[in-house]
Amino acid sequence: MSSKQSDLVQWIEIPKLGDDRGSLVALEGNKIVPFDIERVYYIFGTKPGVARGFHAHKALKQVAICITGKCKMLLDNGIEKAEVWLDSPAKGILINHLVWHEMHEFSTDCVLLVLASEHYDESDYIREYSDFITRVNT
Ligand code: TYD
Repeated sequence: MSSKQSDLVQWIEIPKLGDDRGSLVALEGNKIVPFDIERVYYIFGTKPGVARGFHAHKALKQVAICITGKCKMLLDNGIEKAEVWLDSPAKGILINHLVWHEMHEFSTDCVLLVLASEHYDESDYIREYSDFITRVNT
């Protein structure tokens, strides 16, 4: 793993609008989240030992927030790799386009919320690691 992770690991700090009743979080496109939010999905009920992701996107940008539980995310831009724990509803990670990502070690209670800049489009996926490396080098 490289120690120079400034471009690869971009945390999104999410302000907690708490009061004595508890916490509340608001996510607005082009403010906290650095793009228009076109799609929201969430991953939950992940079976023990399962890993997900294993792809990059040609254009899609995403912000992933673990709103309950935790999981580990590997980010790889073809030059450097970083592993981070997503374990806070107040902390998102930006998954830029052309970043290979994998999610591992999901806790059984993990709910991983993902905000995406585009609607679902299978043609935007790069699912072969060798294709990803070719693309980032051209
Ligand atoms: P996939 O992106 O492969 O999941 P992961 O990368 O987390 O392992 O998606 C799994 C399936 O769900 C795949 O058949 C595509 C479908 N899917 C949608 O239909 N819409 C979506 O927004 C997403 C993210 C996936």
